Amino acid sequence: MKILACYSIKGGVGKTATSVNLAYNAAQAGYRTLLIDLDSQGASSFYFRVRSGKKQWGKRFFDTYESLLKQIKASDFDGLDIIPAHQSFRHFDVFLSDINKRQRRLRQVLKGLKKEYDLIILDCPPSLSYLSEAVFQAADMIVVPVIPTTLSERTYEQLLEFFRDKDLPVGQVYPFFSMVQKQKQLHKTTIERMQSRYKRTLITQVPFSSDIEKMGEHRTPVACFAAKTAGGEAYLNLWQEIQQQLESL
Ligand SMILES: Nc1ncnc2c1ncn2[C@@H]1O[C@H](COP(=O)(O)OP(=O)(O)OP(=O)(O)O)[C@@H](O)[C@H]1O
Ligand SMILES: [Mg+2]
Repeated sequence: MKILACYSIKGGVGKTATSVNLAYNAAQAGYRTLLIDLDSQGASSFYFRVRSGKKQWGKRFFDTYESLLKQIKASDFDGLDIIPAHQSFRHFDVFLSDINKRQRRLRQVLKGLKKEYDLIILDCPPSLSYLSEAVFQAADMIVVPVIPTTLSERTYEQLLEFFRDKDLPVGQVYPFFSMVQKQKQLHKTTIERMQSRYKRTLITQVPFSSDIEKMGEHRTPVACFAAKTAGGEAYLNLWQEIQQQLESL
């Protein structure tokens, strides 16, 4: 079983769009996939029309894998299950601050699901917190959507610095370009510079796409209503590129 995190310090860069579409494409490719919506905003749960119960269960998230098993919901798609977000997830850092060896705990708990799943995808909230450190330790691969602008590039550098400072596995971090608008000179030059600077930059670029934006209306992955568009094809290519990488780990 592999663990893939969609993460960025920055908000609104496409983490949720990526998590949802990668989870769908992975399940279509035959991977028994579990998407965990770690963001209390619950956007990926919304896209898959899955809701958490009323129970404030966030505090038990890091207890044992059995407590997670109880929260798993089926999606409308074969091979794809979801743990939807709950409001109580906004207190994850408080819960984690009480836990010994908190950075390791998420990986330990998730590894308990290895008989049930081939792939776990984590849709992360935009922050640099105890939760993100636990995610960095848990994930075999961390994909970081980057909108090719100056500030996003700077935030990506800050993330790498954080990894180096904390002795985290920086080789597991893979940036890719999200919401790309090729007609913009700034996007073009930022992409060129980052590609030559960061060798792990994934080749696939996800374009700015009104089809991807419309996922909120359809409440399904883009492939379900616009597979043969630039947005739909980009997410399929991105999945295939990530799949190759995961298989080589
Ligand atoms: N490739 C794209 N083209 C156009 N719009 C996009 C694209 N990807 C995402 N969006 C839109 O941009 C907004 C932010 O995307 P998304 O929610 O995936 O980002 P996020 O990084 O998960 O945000 P947050 O930090 O709030 O969790 C959404 O309205 C989404 O529909
Ligand atoms: Mg999100």
